[in-house]
Amino acid sequence: MKHFLNLESLSPEELNGILEEALILKKTKASSNDLEGKFLALIFEKASTRTRVSFEVAMNQLGGQCSFFAPADLQLGRGEPIEDTARVIGSMVDGVVLRTLSHKTITTFSEKSSVPVINGLSDLSHPCQLLADLMTFIEVKGDISGANVTWVGDYNNMCLSYIEASKIFKFNLEVVCPKNYWPSNDQINDLKIVFTEDIKSSISNSDLVSTDVWVSMGDEKEQSKRIADFQKFQVSPELMNTAKEQAIFLHCLPAIRGQEISNDMLEDSRSKVWIQAENRLHAQKSLLKFLI
Ligand code: CP
Ligand code: NVA
Repeated sequence: MKHFLNLESLSPEELNGILEEALILKKTKASSNDLEGKFLALIFEKASTRTRVSFEVAMNQLGGQCSFFAPADLQLGRGEPIEDTARVIGSMVDGVVLRTLSHKTITTFSEKSSVPVINGLSDLSHPCQLLADLMTFIEVKGDISGANVTWVGDYNNMCLSYIEASKIFKFNLEVVCPKNYWPSNDQINDLKIVFTEDIKSSISNSDLVSTDVWVSMGDEKEQSKRIADFQKFQVSPELMNTAKEQAIFLHCLPAIRGQEISNDMLEDSRSKVWIQAENRLHAQKSLLKFLI
């Protein structure tokens, strides 16, 4: 039994297998009975469109079932410990997707869970999104190993999953954001990732530019400061013109036009965000088949 708490929860071979299967599932558009009789619980402490809908549709297309729970619906909301919740739910269902404010909630849950636990986004990481991002790059451009990837945004959950992915899939990653959003020098040395404020120079060499909202869920208190600090870090078609000719643009969505992207960025020909969003479904069908 395996959990998917971060990309590193699975081996590179397992991750590559999941991505290969995801591309096949997308091509064949097949519904199946692979998860017939299986039940998935979704417990989300934060809002979601893509993650929730893609897991619900994935279970349906695989012949299984699922239910969605907000903490207020569960005794969790009245203080029942996460450990007890994990033991009880794990004794009834075949898999759990958690979206939590704190990553610790997911690790604590997984330690007591007798069924696979999937991280559907925490403050630390967003590995399901990276499956879709990697799948999209492979689908549109081919092998990602050796590619140059620019992450424009703070050192957030998506950034951490990009850092993990860069090590597993062996691509070159640069993180571009204002210096006061970088981790400490010690952390940067440990991560062995280039952090820079020079967006133009980083993008000039890029095969993939990926960005995210300036204010993640949970960071709302810093909203006005962040919007001011990130003004020079908007991705636009003009900026993409300075990247490599075949470069593509990804965004996990939701996006705020006029902040991290210009109004016209999502509809630019280099933007593959709609393919990327759809790929959440195919990648997670493959993940569920593998884990459950
Ligand atoms: N990208 C992503 O996880 O979207 P949602 O927050 O809508 O699930
Ligand atoms: N970094 C964003 C990702 C949303 C999918 C957030 O955590 O809000």
